[in-house]
Amino acid sequence: MLNLPSTHTIGMPVAFAGFAVRDDVQSDWRTALPALAAEGVTLRALRASDAPTLHAMLTTEEVARFISPPPSTVEGFEKFIAWTRRQQAEGRYVCFGIVPAGRSDAVGIIQLRALDSAFELAEWGFALGSAFWGTGMFQAAARAALEFAFTVLPVRRIEARVVTENHRGRGALTKLGAVCEAVMRQSFRRGALWTDQMLWSVTRESWMFTNATWAGRVH
Ligand SMILES: CC(C)(COP(=O)(O)OP(=O)(O)OC[C@H]1O[C@@H](n2cnc3c(N)ncnc32)[C@H](O)[C@@H]1OP(=O)(O)O)[C@@H](O)C(=O)NCCC(=O)NCCS
Repeated sequence: MLNLPSTHTIGMPVAFAGFAVRDDVQSDWRTALPALAAEGVTLRALRASDAPTLHAMLTTEEVARFISPPPSTVEGFEKFIAWTRRQQAEGRYVCFGIVPAGRSDAVGIIQLRALDSAFELAEWGFALGSAFWGTGMFQAAARAALEFAFTVLPVRRIEARVVTENHRGRGALTKLGAVCEAVMRQSFRRGALWTDQMLWSVTRESWMFTNATWAGRVH
């Protein structure tokens, strides 16, 4: 599930400490995310200047209906972007902006959040402006993000929670090789209704097995 923090949660103190990655690698990503180049797209850290485009892209009905409510204003997105930087510096979270070739602003995001103190278990969430759906951009971006998680971060397992009716989200995960493990009954509130989510996972082992070219790059 893509969870963008609402204004009142931004700036919460962080309790996690201690990571299994090499210190130099760890401090690198905490200090500055690398830009990841993939086919037709670059992933990079969010910039304050992305806020207007992200607001326009991620608050439409078709994008927002299966995710936690995104910030409702450009200023809200600016605060969210500042929050992502603080969380990254704390070592428990990263958020990449998805920048299509030929543009300089992010039209979507992929975030990874630590579920444990070592960042070996993570949850990811993603959203892309609907004009870019079905272009292959998400698949390229998601693969780059998974590679980053499994080779730079110490992540061993990544979970995604997807609303059962979100067939496009489920289709995208299936194409990435994610496995549906469970249905989480009434785990997501949409307005007045509680709806089911599916729990999908990708493990480092399965990712390395099916993407053998990455195998030598694990830390
Ligand atoms: C999730 C998201 C990033 C995926 O990006 P995308 O470009 O749409 O995904 P892809 O095109 O790579 O894959 C979607 C697949 O689902 C398929 N699909 C779409 N609608 C479908 C439906 N009703 N039933 C079955 N499959 C469907 C597509 O055909 C495609 O598969 P194909 O390439 O084999 O045809 C994008 O749809 C999005 O931003 N959605 C809103 C936010 C969201 O739901 N986020 C997920 C929760 S964390």
